[in-house]
Amino acid sequence: MSEQIVMGIESSCDETACALVNDKGEILSSVVWSQYDEHRRFGGVVPEIAARAHLEKCDILIKEALDKAGKKFEDLSAVAVAGGPGLIGGVLVGVMTAKAIAFCHNLPFIAVNHLEGHALTARLSHPVQFPYLLLLTSGGHCQVLIVEGVGKYKKLGATIDDSAGEAFDKVAKMLDIGYPGGPNLEKRAKLGDAKRFQFPVPMRGRAGCDFSFSGLKTAVRVCIERQDTLTEQDKNDICASFQLAVIKQVEDRLKHAIQTFKELYPDAKDLVVAGGVAANTALRTKLQEIANKNKLIFSAPPIHLCTDNGVMIAWAGMERHKQGLYDTFDFKARPRWPLDTL
Ligand code: KG4
Ligand code: ZN
Repeated sequence: MSEQIVMGIESSCDETACALVNDKGEILSSVVWSQYDEHRRFGGVVPEIAARAHLEKCDILIKEALDKAGKKFEDLSAVAVAGGPGLIGGVLVGVMTAKAIAFCHNLPFIAVNHLEGHALTARLSHPVQFPYLLLLTSGGHCQVLIVEGVGKYKKLGATIDDSAGEAFDKVAKMLDIGYPGGPNLEKRAKLGDAKRFQFPVPMRGRAGCDFSFSGLKTAVRVCIERQDTLTEQDKNDICASFQLAVIKQVEDRLKHAIQTFKELYPDAKDLVVAGGVAANTALRTKLQEIANKNKLIFSAPPIHLCTDNGVMIAWAGMERHKQGLYDTFDFKARPRWPLDTL
């Protein structure tokens, strides 16, 4: 069979992105346009501004992705788009654009669950085999799942309140260290003393694999309010102590998840992390340690493929294309779309 190429379009949050990947997992092109400048002065993503910005950039990025790869629409085998979950205005822009391309060029249309995009990304860069244990931690979600196959997810636990990414962003906002919160907080944490503040580790010691971050966020708020003045070093120490509490919770929750995973799949070997927070180096280091201790192989996508991008949608689209899993044009953009209902 000739080279198969899938285009992936992402517009579900604050990144407009388009990428082309082939069936060997080679990235032929990838363009990401982050809307940070649009949202910075509001300290977070404004859905209506995001939707308009996607509309302005989507066509331009698609052309750029084709040009960079030296390909035309006629060279594509399928068009994939993040069909949700996400901010509905942005998802609609991507879905309508992808449908138009598929219709005009007579291509299969694939609506990829954005979370499935994150979930499968590690298979592009590493030889990860189904079933694998996945920590999916992004701005909108924090869950631990067993990925049994394309479209087959067993959720073991999820956050009962905020996601980890949300907690990073909110703490960064409280400290006024800039948007986007996660990467800025991580930079500060590297310069701080993680032992200075003893923040609580929600859910530690509890049964199951659920997460919670809202109590930790409140503890940070109280700590900030207690300081008369906040020096740059105070901020760095709060960042380091907060990050450590997040990582300790992940460690505790994964203990239970790994036990369940091994009971269900004694021969399975892979522990994978995905989503924006997976870009965090301290978290990656801890996960590697956890994997070593449990005789698992740890895989994480390259850092630039952890936060939202077009490659993850194109690759999940390719995994679906290989199995002939296509969608029809009556697919509706979805603000909510749990992975375990695929
Ligand atoms: O996956 P993603 O790009 O968007 C969603 O699907 O939500 O994740 C974005 C989230 C944001 O909350 C951001 O602050 C967080 O990922 N993030 C990080 C880091 N880089 C991005 N959190 C901690 N450390 C990082 N280095
Ligand atoms: Zn995402």
